[in-house]
Amino acid sequence: MVCLGNICRSPLAEGILLQKAFKAGLTWSIESAGTNSYHTGEPPHPLSQKVARLNGIDISRQRARRFTAGDFDVYDKIYALAVDVVDEIKRIAGKRFDAGKVDLLLNELYPGTNMNVPDPWYGPEAGYHEAFKLIDKACEAIISKYSILNSQYTMSQ
Ligand code: 4NP
Repeated sequence: MVCLGNICRSPLAEGILLQKAFKAGLTWSIESAGTNSYHTGEPPHPLSQKVARLNGIDISRQRARRFTAGDFDVYDKIYALAVDVVDEIKRIAGKRFDAGKVDLLLNELYPGTNMNVPDPWYGPEAGYHEAFKLIDKACEAIISKYSILNSQYTMSQ
């Protein structure tokens, strides 16, 4: 889960998908990162922490880190929270960029629309609630998709 600062949107995405995957019995390794290093080492924004907590998710122990080209070797899927983030992922990854692994998170919810999760960094608390709702719905769609694939695979064994 990748955004710009790794303090507002992608920490929510990490926390939400982790919780949903755990509940679905999916043993995924899920992390978040930012394409800039302005906030490296910092916990998520207090309003992201608050909104997550109000929804029963504790993201307080996360720490921001910068996305690296090596993430392409570690992860099967890389979700960008916005189109400008995809551009930055390309720049950072260079030759290791693998288009087959990268998608916009909201394309899981609204396929082919290339929509952004609006960045709440510049605005009031409402933006954080809005970001949570969008990310939550997209993560639900991911879990549904892979739960079906997982059960089809299990049945075919
Ligand atoms: P995020 O929001 O990408 O959702 O973590 C931002 C946080 C900080 C900055 C930009 C976006 N910044 O430039 O410091």
